[in-house]
Amino acid sequence: MNPYKMVVAVANQKGGCAKTTTAVNLAAALAKGNRKMGLPPAKVLLIDLDPQGNCATSFGVEKKSVKKTTYDLLSNDLGDELPLMDEYLLSPKKLTEAMRAAWSLRNGGKKAPANITSGNLWLLPSDIHLSGAEIELSHKIGRETRLREALLPIVDNFDYIIIDTPPSLGLLSINAMCAANWVMVPVQAEYYALEGFSMLMNSIKMIQRRINRQLKIFGVVMTMVDSRSKLSRHVCDQVNTKMPNKLFNTTVRRLVKVAEAPWSGAPTVILNKPTNSGSGAGSLEYWTLAKEFHQRTLEMRREFGVNEVPRLLLDRQNRQNLTPPPN
Ligand SMILES: Nc1ncnc2c1ncn2[C@@H]1O[C@H](COP(=O)(O)OP(=O)(O)OP(=O)(O)O)[C@@H](O)[C@H]1O
Ligand SMILES: [Mg+2]
Repeated sequence: MNPYKMVVAVANQKGGCAKTTTAVNLAAALAKGNRKMGLPPAKVLLIDLDPQGNCATSFGVEKKSVKKTTYDLLSNDLGDELPLMDEYLLSPKKLTEAMRAAWSLRNGGKKAPANITSGNLWLLPSDIHLSGAEIELSHKIGRETRLREALLPIVDNFDYIIIDTPPSLGLLSINAMCAANWVMVPVQAEYYALEGFSMLMNSIKMIQRRINRQLKIFGVVMTMVDSRSKLSRHVCDQVNTKMPNKLFNTTVRRLVKVAEAPWSGAPTVILNKPTNSGSGAGSLEYWTLAKEFHQRTLEMRREFGVNEVPRLLLDRQNRQNLTPPPN
């Protein structure tokens, strides 16, 4: 895969460090875009590789309504016959309907506000069945590269593919890091945060050496930061020393609205208007992270001398080419 493609695994084997929150908000912000912030809308696919299935619930999708999941995709054993990815993805329309229904349910049947829409986001959901996949796949050929194989036919349909991973370095995380060419590491600003960090770096190096030479660290983002605490600043400094130039300038503070948002059926970047303080502060921080993510992508592509045409523009051009000329 070309190094300038943005297939990004959000990974850290440490539990609860905001992998899902970061993957979901980043994907939602990139897919919606924000004209005021200079962030153009993009076509985004979010993949849930965690059996906890939290990505779907973050968008108000009821797990029992999901028919096909990452489990079905990874355990598919049809040899050359790859499954039709379209059947597995929840479309932007479905995600919007689910978010709006969940919002109404939580707000006494009121009509959801107009801003609760998912933009250009597709979701490949997961559920608890995926927890059995590691054992089931363990004796199968190509077990580490199943996701990569399944994604190959659709990689070019999206500007960004973001993969949420479970809190372990097992076969599911390995599948994510084989399918991706970049890793984004959320680090919670707390005392134990760096304990597993070298283990994660070793796993990434091992995958680079053995299976996926393209894999690189895109960035490290500090999450749940308490700006008043010396410890938070100490952890940020340590990450900066270990990984120069990789730490994102944007940090995300521990803010209750970020944690509460999925309960109302939508990620904070969709639910809360970004503001400097108050209820929209967490939303603004994730919007700012998405902007920095986009800018870093453009810089990286400039380094490779590549000018990728945004998929929405390409889709429009293709549609125009298909329309018969007027008589
Ligand atoms: N910036 C934040 N402020 C407050 N709470 C947060 C923030 N980010 C995440 N949380 C909360 O912290 C908890 C863990 O977050 P999340 O589920 O995103 O972590 P995770 O790394 O995906 O966890 P796991 O390892 O179990 O998959 C959740 O309850 C989430 O709502
Ligand atoms: Mg998670």
